[in-house]
Amino acid sequence: MTNPHRSSRISGFHKKSPVERLAIVSEFAGLDAAAAAALPGTGNLDIDLADRLVENVIGSMNIPLGIATNMKVDGEDLLIPMATEESSVVAAVCNAARQCYDAGGFTTSMSGTLMIAQIQAIGVADPHAARLRILDRRDEIKAVCDGCDPILLKFGGGFRDVEVRVLDSQGGPMLVTHLIVDTRDAMGANAVNSMAEKLAPHIAEWTGGRVYLRILSNLADRRLARAHAVWPLDQIGGQIGGEAVRDGIISAYHFADADPYRAATHNKGIMNGVSAVVLATGNDTRAVEAGAHAYAARNGRYGSLTRFEVTADGHLSGSIELPMAVGLIGGATKAHPTAQACLRILGVTSAERLARVIAAVGLAQNFSALKALATTGIQKGHMALHAQNIAMMAGAVGEEIDRVARILVERGTVRQDVAQAILEDMRAAAQ
Ligand code: MEV
Repeated sequence: MTNPHRSSRISGFHKKSPVERLAIVSEFAGLDAAAAAALPGTGNLDIDLADRLVENVIGSMNIPLGIATNMKVDGEDLLIPMATEESSVVAAVCNAARQCYDAGGFTTSMSGTLMIAQIQAIGVADPHAARLRILDRRDEIKAVCDGCDPILLKFGGGFRDVEVRVLDSQGGPMLVTHLIVDTRDAMGANAVNSMAEKLAPHIAEWTGGRVYLRILSNLADRRLARAHAVWPLDQIGGQIGGEAVRDGIISAYHFADADPYRAATHNKGIMNGVSAVVLATGNDTRAVEAGAHAYAARNGRYGSLTRFEVTADGHLSGSIELPMAVGLIGGATKAHPTAQACLRILGVTSAERLARVIAAVGLAQNFSALKALATTGIQKGHMALHAQNIAMMAGAVGEEIDRVARILVERGTVRQDVAQAILEDMRAAAQ
């Protein structure tokens, strides 16, 4: 029973231990012993580490980690760790990669590892002249920025350029300074945010304006990861033939690029693959997702992150380009043992390589989704796994799970009440 007079105003909650917090939460929410017992286990993530990573920790949320096979990226065979709660996502990458493996797999590239930090100045009397005053101080700006992070400099990173834009905003002209910084193997948020904060008083002085925001941009369009693959017709054709599959996939891409309603789902499928690897490596899924969707809308209308076309000899060519701000050092990537193990499985030694591999996974994911959608539909594949979940929810255990799931799929009715009836019949017959 929950307490009707419960209050969310809990003083000193952050100072308590995870066990003490869980007791408070259990009482607040009226959790029974079984529900409360599901929360404190943190697997291989030490509770003290979890408590340092975020605030007010009471436990951890475990997500399955699957391995995508068959991936060949720039001539190297890779196994891809993917953290996702969604069925079919890992299988989709395995299938797409198998169908282009003999043709060479994926080739990838990267535009660089540059991040952008923005400094917003308002109330500048002469914004266009102020813009030039900032640009004139490039050397001074470089010195301030590079002074913030000697380690980054040591690893070949640091300030690269400054740009200043005069934005026409609802509140009048706004002067926005962009610091372009090479963050190398770091995702770079901390590095560029520190630089922006350090430079802000100078910007205020040089412009005579008032500085408010000093923060990175997640539209990391100086950090674009690209991947390409060719799927030969004889590898993708099933009963309906390679040409029909190829044309169906290309038409699906045309649909996404013409219609934001479809593009949102199309790109969501891409992010099923991308975010799963980003999460498995302890990187910031929201940063990559925000960058991807903003990039998809860069031309003023939201469109597809991938392109599909026909090669000169009639095969299916797919490509992808999207911002990929991921790192190998810092944050959960460095601290979380699963993330560290996943990086070892991937065998990547630079953030650039990780970004390129992730782009290839996004393309693979999209190929499989479009192929399924343009041919048999996705429900057939989904249903097999969904049926297993339903069978478990109906109480099936051990071998019963597969048997009940198979019957559900055969009958074409994947429902818990049907699963329960099948299970009862099965158990009665076994007695
Ligand atoms: C489901 O998570 C993803 C798809 O909807 C992607 C798509 O429609 O392209 C299958």
